Amino acid sequence: TSALPSGYGIRRLQKTDKADFLAVLSVLTTVGDIPDPAWNDRFEYIAKNEDTYTILCITDEAGQVCATGSLIVERKFIRNCGLVGHIEDIAVAKDKQGKRLGLRMIQALDHIAEQAGCYKSILDCSESNKGFYEKCGFKFAGVEMAHYY
Ligand code: ACO
Repeated sequence: TSALPSGYGIRRLQKTDKADFLAVLSVLTTVGDIPDPAWNDRFEYIAKNEDTYTILCITDEAGQVCATGSLIVERKFIRNCGLVGHIEDIAVAKDKQGKRLGLRMIQALDHIAEQAGCYKSILDCSESNKGFYEKCGFKFAGVEMAHYY
């Protein structure tokens, strides 16, 4: 596995990360203006269901969150009640990209999925990110379909 730069760390999301974490996620997509009660409710749901949800953060030498990624463990009936990891919302702050933080994040989430007993992890990405996930060991496996409401 690849090492983090000196002074960097990786840990689970904390309730006090709100501003830094949402700023990092905004490199990915629209985050919206999330009021504190909505943040607290969602955080507590995720914390209460930590065998299903993992949200990791990489912190820089100043302790600031600069990358994030999520794993959702899906419980299936197929494959003898198999488990599948879904990797979601990978984002590295613009000024911290290209330091292998994305790679390190995927390795950490992959490790958690494997330890949890998942037989595979899957994710959706744009054509422009295909090369990144290939470097992380993922292989092309189909087409994403979406129905927006
Ligand atoms: N295409 C091809 N190769 C890439 C790309 C890319 N878009 N991005 C990085 N790489 C390569 C790097 O050059 C590096 O190769 P090397 O090991 O030969 O040097 C390797 O992949 C690892 O790259 P990292 O330095 O770990 O990449 P970074 O930390 O910048 O993270 C990421 C990549 C997550 C795509 C980041 O650029 C980002 O946050 N982008 C904006 C948000 C985004 O698109 N997130 C992914 C959405 S998909 C999802 O969430 C499931």
